[in-house]
Amino acid sequence: MPITTCIFDAYGTLFDVAAAARLAAAEPAFVAIKDDWPAVAEHWRLKQLQYSWLRAVTGAHTDFWEVTQNSLDWALEKTGHDADPALRERLLALYWELQAYAEVPAMLAALKDGGIKTGILSNGSPDMLQGAVDSAGIGDVLDVSLSVQSVGIFKPDATVYDLVGAHFGCAKDEVLFVSSNGWDAAAATGYGFDTAWVNRSGEPMDRLPWTPAHVLSDLTGIPELAGL
Ligand code: LAC
Repeated sequence: MPITTCIFDAYGTLFDVAAAARLAAAEPAFVAIKDDWPAVAEHWRLKQLQYSWLRAVTGAHTDFWEVTQNSLDWALEKTGHDADPALRERLLALYWELQAYAEVPAMLAALKDGGIKTGILSNGSPDMLQGAVDSAGIGDVLDVSLSVQSVGIFKPDATVYDLVGAHFGCAKDEVLFVSSNGWDAAAATGYGFDTAWVNRSGEPMDRLPWTPAHVLSDLTGIPELAGL
C-alpha cells in the first residue's frame, strides 16, 4: 500500500533531548556541568527509557513526566550533581521547550504539501508534547499528537501503536513510523508498520527479532520514503 500517514516518535526523533543539558551547561549558573553535561544527558535518557520499560512490564504505569523526573534524579546522583536543586529545576524546565532538529519544520511541511497525514506517537504526556510542539513552532504541520496516556502503558506495547489506526482509520502498511530509538522502530516493524530508524550517532543495530525497514542518518529523506 502507498504511504498515507507518517508518524514520528517525539523525544530524540523530532526533539533533541540532549539540548536541555547542553543549554544548561552553557549558562553561568550551571558551570558545574560544563564538562560532564553529555554524561548527565546520556544517563538521564537511558534511565528514562529503562523506567518506562520496567513500568510497562510490571503494570506500574505513571505519567511520563514522573518518569522523566525520577530518571533525572538518578542521573544527577550518578554524576555527583544531586545537591544542586536549581540545576534540577533548570533541566526540567528546559525539557518543556526542547529544540526540534534543524530539518524538522521543512520535512514536515514537505509531507503536508504532499498530502501525507502527519502525527506524533509518544510516551510523553499530552501537556509535555504540547509544550515541545509549541516551542518548536511545528503545530501547523502536524495533524495530531497521540500520547500513550490514553492507553496507560508505554511503548513498545502494541496498544500504543494501535492508537495510529484508531485515529486515522488507516491500515498498518499505509503508515511510515519514524523513530530515533532502534528498539521503537524495530518493535513497530514487528507490529506491521513500514519503519525508518533515524540513527544520528551511528549506533549499532539493536539485536531484536525485527529490523527497521529503513535506516537514515537524519530526517531529510523521510518525504522520499513516504513516496514524494
Ligand atoms: C517517545 C520516546 C520513547 O517520545 O522517545 O515516546
